[in-house]
Amino acid sequence: MLVRLKFIGWITALKLLIVFSATLWMFGSKGTAQDQTLRKPLDPKAWGSNHLGKPRPDYVSGDECLFCHRNDIGPTWQKTSHALTIRERVGAPGLESMITGQAGIEKLTTGFDFFLGSRHRLRFLKKDGYGKFALLNVQAVLNNDGRIEKLVESEKPAWDKDKFASRCAGCHATAVDPATKAFSSFSLDCYTCHGVVSLDHTNDTSLVLLSKKRRNDAKVITSLCAQCHLREGRSNSTGLPYPNNFIAGDNLFQDFEVDFSKADDGDLNAGDRHVWRNVRDVVINGDESINCLSCHQVHVSSSFKHRRVLRAPICSECHQGDGFKELKRYVVHSRLCEY
Ligand code: HEC
Ligand code: HEC
Ligand code: HEC
Ligand code: HEC
Ligand code: HEC
Ligand code: HEC
Repeated sequence: MLVRLKFIGWITALKLLIVFSATLWMFGSKGTAQDQTLRKPLDPKAWGSNHLGKPRPDYVSGDECLFCHRNDIGPTWQKTSHALTIRERVGAPGLESMITGQAGIEKLTTGFDFFLGSRHRLRFLKKDGYGKFALLNVQAVLNNDGRIEKLVESEKPAWDKDKFASRCAGCHATAVDPATKAFSSFSLDCYTCHGVVSLDHTNDTSLVLLSKKRRNDAKVITSLCAQCHLREGRSNSTGLPYPNNFIAGDNLFQDFEVDFSKADDGDLNAGDRHVWRNVRDVVINGDESINCLSCHQVHVSSSFKHRRVLRAPICSECHQGDGFKELKRYVVHSRLCEY
């Protein structure tokens, strides 16, 4: 009898322990996005700092970084879409061959010296003073084989001198001066993601953002990717559709105003919506369990890693049906980027 009682006592204690740990798990700091709805939304402006009103910094250029990082980063860098978002015409024979011989296109684009885009669309730019481009309205739509399928706005080709600076530069070029809207280099340099890098990092890698030792702050990572990937936000201080003097490491949301309801917008394509959703989970719901780098490897342009992430509500942005086997099809469009 005594033994029996003791046994029941143990079972009760065990049950209590299970209930207790389940409660801890549900309300603990690493809860899932669903549990977070029980909590008060966070103020996204609360942490960190920004560089509003400060001078555009000097930074070590990509060529200098690649001199030392030619073996680890060099081999893949020139193939990643971030390095290629703007390319000099002379350095892009593959894209050039789509134009040459195509009498119609060649004539419509006369005088351009840079390409913007390369995966779905091509836009055409020409130099227009220091750190400025003029943008041609004509666009080439690319098909899945990387060939020109058709042209858009080809009736009346016209160069716009202001649009690139006031609508595009902040996300397709590097370090835009808020006062003049001039960029310091075309396309995206290491600075856009790694920020200002001290050369002392060669001895202590914790000094450089996104090193193996410094890629654990979900808020910092989310801010730095979101500076370009939350399309349709607006800088409060400049009114421009890209951030004002943002430096990786800053809190984007102290000046960049965004509408987080886009994370629930069924009309938005999943390519953009999963970004909005992940950013909202991190900065509003305080769920730091998943960030862009859980799924994306920027230097090899791969999202293969995402298959190993534990199933979470965000998966349903693209997977549905039995066992999530069915992939939702989507096409990426953007009013801001005009495609
Ligand atoms: C300064 C702006 C900027 C920053 C910062 C930035 N991106 Fe991008 N990203 C772009 C642009 C522009 C493109 C499209 C380039 C093109 O096709 O011309 C792009 C494309 C991509 C793509 C699709 C193409 C591919 O390579 O698979 C992914 C995924 C991506 N970015 C993820 C990220 C992540 C993750 C971060 C943060 C570590 C990040 N980006 C930071 C501007 C940026
Ligand atoms: C807030 C940042 C931001 C601004 C401002 C911006 N873009 Fe983009 N753009 C992006 C990002 C991020 C991508 C990649 C999105 C993706 O692939 O899902 C992109 C992709 C593109 C693409 C598609 C490239 C391809 O081949 O897939 C084109 C074309 C483009 N942008 C043109 C423009 C033009 C033209 C402007 C100015 C009128 C502009 N963008 C302004 C962030 C921006
Ligand atoms: C679009 C954002 C982005 C740009 C631009 C970028 N990086 Fe990175 N870098 C990252 C991220 C994110 C990581 C963390 C590893 C990963 O997820 O790929 C990283 C990691 C690294 C690493 C460490 C690699 C490792 O083994 O962990 C080095 C070195 C590096 N970057 C150098 C560079 C250099 C040099 C450039 C410019 C030529 C550059 N990066 C441009 C985002 C970027
Ligand atoms: C003088 C040579 C040199 C220059 C210039 C240089 N680096 Fe490095 N970098 C190193 C060395 C050495 C290391 C430490 C060894 C390693 O991990 O590669 C390192 C490490 C890193 C790491 C961390 C790698 C890890 O394993 O965690 C990153 C990220 C990085 N560098 C980015 C950059 C960026 C971005 C630039 C340009 C702004 C740059 N480096 C310029 C030599 C250099
Ligand atoms: C749960 C995993 C996961 C997270 C978190 C995630 N992504 Fe993605 N993302 C993916 C997958 C998978 C794709 C699809 C790649 C494909 O179509 O091959 C994708 C596609 C993209 C694309 C390309 C859309 C297109 O087709 O042009 C961009 C840009 C992108 N992600 C940016 C981001 C950014 C920025 C973040 C962080 C705010 C982020 N992603 C967070 C898994 C994720
Ligand atoms: C932005 C869209 C997107 C999101 C979000 C996304 N996936 Fe995927 N997933 C894809 C695409 C596209 C593929 C097929 C190509 C590939 O592997 O990238 C895929 C493939 C997979 C595969 C391989 C399936 C097979 O049959 O081979 C697994 C497993 C997977 N995803 C798991 C997940 C998990 C778990 C999540 C959430 C943590 C997630 N995915 C979120 C787009 C997405």
